[in-house]
Amino acid sequence: MWQTGVTREAERVLGGNPEATGLRFEVDGEIATITLDRPEKRNAQTFALWSELTRIGNNLPEQVRVVVVRGEGPSFSAGIDLSMFGSLQPGSDLDSSIAEFQRGFLWLRRPDIVSIAAVQGHAIGAGFQLALSCDLRIVADDVKFCMKEPALGLVPDLTGTKPLVDLVGLAKAVDICLTARVVEAEEALRLGLAERVVPRDELATAVKEKTAQLLSVDRAAATATKRLLQGATGRSLEEQCAAERAEQVLRIRALNGG
Ligand code: ACO
Repeated sequence: MWQTGVTREAERVLGGNPEATGLRFEVDGEIATITLDRPEKRNAQTFALWSELTRIGNNLPEQVRVVVVRGEGPSFSAGIDLSMFGSLQPGSDLDSSIAEFQRGFLWLRRPDIVSIAAVQGHAIGAGFQLALSCDLRIVADDVKFCMKEPALGLVPDLTGTKPLVDLVGLAKAVDICLTARVVEAEEALRLGLAERVVPRDELATAVKEKTAQLLSVDRAAATATKRLLQGATGRSLEEQCAAERAEQVLRIRALNGG
């Protein structure tokens, strides 16, 4: 569903090739929706999907303020497409390949947007990490998060470990990852992994409500505030106070037309 303001060129560039990538991308004014659209394979993620995520991030129309990431069908995502296992050869430049995959997930934290993962059913491995790449997670009551990588002899490497530790703390993150156990809705809410749990058929409405709340505040103030919040854990109180002052000076000047 494309909205005025998105040029035909942007439409062509961003329309992508859902059949090849398993991703659908739609823009409606200030809201972009990325849909994992291979429900028959439980939205398993391929290298092509990760490249497409990067391309979408690089070409996101300027007016977009909220990015919703959702999955079609019973599961948000069953993680990496298992048919791709073994296709990365030990002799190749694995570090560069993984860095390339990570780019598809990293941009979802950009301060000028807010990303929301709408998660139902299974969010396994790369699926869990995609949800963790978003700023907020609104989940259905049937959600099942699972960091399965260690059970398969791997580590989670799609940018998910930091947000997981930031959200739940080191001990819980160790518990969740090193047991590869399932975290269901009630626990996800309690741990702060989910902002809100709703019945499955109310997920879209809950995301719409959150989106409307996010769009109700001034964009420049929202961007500056997100930048401040993102930097907070890495700074001392003194440094954070200085950062607040610096952002506020810019805001006051902008509000006064200077
Ligand atoms: N990769 C490729 N195909 C998959 C994947 C996957 N990760 N997950 C599911 N599928 C396919 C199945 O092979 C099946 O295909 P088929 O109909 O052609 O046989 C179809 O999707 C449906 O799968 P079911 O297992 O029948 O669906 P169900 O809803 O019962 O179970 C579940 C869903 C729990 C997600 C299950 O499919 C599963 O455990 N998948 C594997 C999860 C996994 O190990 N992911 C890797 C994590 S590690 C990482 O992401 C880095």
